[in-house]
Amino acid sequence: MKKVLNIVGARPNFMKIAPIVREMRRRKDEFLPLIVHTGQHYDEAMSDSFFRDLGIPKPDYHLEVGSHSHAVQTAKIMMAFEPIVLAEKPDWVLVVGDVNSTIACALVCAKLGVKVAHVEAGLRSRDRTMPEEINRILTDAISDLLLTTSQDADENLKAEGVTADKIKFVGNVMIDSLFYNLEKSRNSKAREDLDLIDKDYAVLTLHRPSNVDEKEVFTSLLDALILISEKIPVIFPVHPRTRGNIERFGFAERVKSSNIRLIEPLGYLDFMNLYSSAKLVLTDSGGLQEETTALSIPCLTLRENTERPITIELGTNKLVGTNTEKIKQAAFEILENSSKKDKQIPPLWDGHAAERICDALL
Ligand code: UD1
Repeated sequence: MKKVLNIVGARPNFMKIAPIVREMRRRKDEFLPLIVHTGQHYDEAMSDSFFRDLGIPKPDYHLEVGSHSHAVQTAKIMMAFEPIVLAEKPDWVLVVGDVNSTIACALVCAKLGVKVAHVEAGLRSRDRTMPEEINRILTDAISDLLLTTSQDADENLKAEGVTADKIKFVGNVMIDSLFYNLEKSRNSKAREDLDLIDKDYAVLTLHRPSNVDEKEVFTSLLDALILISEKIPVIFPVHPRTRGNIERFGFAERVKSSNIRLIEPLGYLDFMNLYSSAKLVLTDSGGLQEETTALSIPCLTLRENTERPITIELGTNKLVGTNTEKIKQAAFEILENSSKKDKQIPPLWDGHAAERICDALL
């Protein structure tokens, strides 16, 4: 029987942990799964609603850390998590993704000699100004088992000197959640409530510090988004960081008088109901690049780089950066050319990654 502490902290963690914990609970002779929520995200719309939608059991431990600078947030998580590891003596601690909770909990375990498995290992944007890139590199360097979503990640790890026996290509567990919940999301009223049934629309998400914390970059993006919204309504569930900056930079009036519709952040099922019928998705999120590839929805990524190149090679993703003209042209091209290109779903994005993750832990 393997006792596993499963770590969640921020919004993009919940859909990765849900299928893993479900599979561990199904295999109850083999696993005793516990859930630790660091509290990095805490709003109802950023956390609790995901537990409900994804059917994740209530956390066994809640560290209630909240928002702080990177150093303070990471340190607070480490301080609160260490006594739990000492008391529970788990066989494995399982961390997912690349948020501050991921590195904080992995580092505690590395120092205590407790084994860490990292789900979504090996992704690299090669942009060290991204906080997530630092979290990814460091977490991989101290994890005992590196579970990857695509083979380019295996290659990245090997190039950094990781031995092959530590790396296991298991596929994409976030796509397990997507396929598991797609039918359920059709019952959501999100599109109906927004009066979008049978209508064409684009969906936008934007929250990277490099895009929304700098006024000049945000202006360049906003100029493009307003031009696009003249052709197609742009539905924009706004992350709290971005909402704050729209106010701070004085963008609220421009947005209000455009065809960009600002709405509150949506829950997992409501958001899937929305983007799964979109003509086009514009985003700087990592997860959404993968979800649109799995559903063959055209995606423009508003960044200069991606740690998920497979979504470009095989999927529907295109990197367009932050230049107004480039973004506008790429969007217009998609809107004018409705013929779908032949796209592939990447290998092992098949809804069974959680089973392979559990096998790897044994
Ligand atoms: C974090 C992750 C990022 C992930 C994103 C998804 C790190 C370094 N970053 O960034 O990788 O893509 O989550 O959302 O781990 N806030 C709220 N309510 C909340 C949470 C945050 O209002 O529930 C506000 C706070 O004012 C906070 C700000 O949003 O200061 C940013 O939150 P934070 O967790 O620091 O970073 P994210 O931008 O959410």
